[in-house]
Amino acid sequence: MLQTLRECLIMGANPTDLMGPLTTIGHTSTETGLRVSEIEMPMFGLGVYLMKEPGECKSAVVHAIKSGYRLIDTAMAYGNEHEVGDAIRECGVDREELFIVTKLRRPHATGYDEVIQRCKESLENMRLDQMDLYLVHAPPEDIEARASVWEGMEKCLENGWTRAIGVSNYGTHHLEAMRSYASILPSVNQIEIHPWLQRTELRAFTESIGATPMAYSPLARGHKVSDPKLGEVSGRIGCTPAQAAIKWCIDVGAVTIPKSSNPGRILENLGSIDVDLSGFGGDFAAMDGDYVSGWDPTVEP
Ligand SMILES: NC(=O)c1ccc[n+]([C@@H]2O[C@H](COP(=O)([O-])OP(=O)(O)OC[C@H]3O[C@@H](n4cnc5c(N)ncnc54)[C@H](OP(=O)(O)O)[C@@H]3O)[C@@H](O)[C@H]2O)c1
Repeated sequence: MLQTLRECLIMGANPTDLMGPLTTIGHTSTETGLRVSEIEMPMFGLGVYLMKEPGECKSAVVHAIKSGYRLIDTAMAYGNEHEVGDAIRECGVDREELFIVTKLRRPHATGYDEVIQRCKESLENMRLDQMDLYLVHAPPEDIEARASVWEGMEKCLENGWTRAIGVSNYGTHHLEAMRSYASILPSVNQIEIHPWLQRTELRAFTESIGATPMAYSPLARGHKVSDPKLGEVSGRIGCTPAQAAIKWCIDVGAVTIPKSSNPGRILENLGSIDVDLSGFGGDFAAMDGDYVSGWDPTVEP
């Protein structure tokens, strides 16, 4: 298990070692096909969906950051951006060391002006000058609005309100359509990915447009932590079931953000970074079963 920040500091190790593997994300110009900007992003972080009790999100985020997490994934829809902001100020780690992701709510994804307003609102909620990654939470329901929503996202990037922009829950056809209206393609596509919903084709298509897949619900919302096959494989690997599922996501090249409000499980999940799955590829391949644990806008028109 990875050491906590405190243990690490006592032992003299560099706290930045605790953030785990990094990946480079960036935007590709639709006109030239070239990368126009790149930034580094941790491959592992904390998701804060369904942390609704007052103070729950703040205390989970503070504990996670003090333990070594550097990436936090929230959304305006989760109603806890303000607690993420409070945690950032209380955690004792410099803002520059953290990577903060939030999302444009689907009902707000109606056009350029709304995106500008909502991005500013998210920054105000977190009391930040800049976020690291701003995502369109799901393909806007009005197909005609998708181009102007993305134009608003590009403006947020240009204004320096975010260091990168991306999408979430975009299927292959949604991404393909972006080539006709985007100036720059998304840096990230955040979708449900885990051993039971491996999405090999959508991950490959996401990468083909220069975007990085980001795996949400790596534990299938907790539905699959007691899967007997996972239990058997993790026993042979020598880690916990949750650690095996989380590390599988990282090993397929997807940034991942397991949610936990429980201090022990927050540490357990961080320990996934050190798990070695070499030689177990066949066991994980056999788990794929198109299991969608939540919603699936990737298949919508
Ligand atoms: N873009 C989107 O549309 C979208 C959709 C869904 C999720 N997300 C993002 O992805 C994040 C993660 O997804 P998720 O919250 O849906 O589900 P998840 O991370 O797959 O699973 C969370 C559930 O698993 C439990 N859990 C966590 N660690 C565990 C462990 N080590 N052992 C056993 N149980 C464990 C949690 O309970 P405890 O809290 O009690 O530990 C919680 O009930 C979200 O928080 C959110 O940031 C994005």
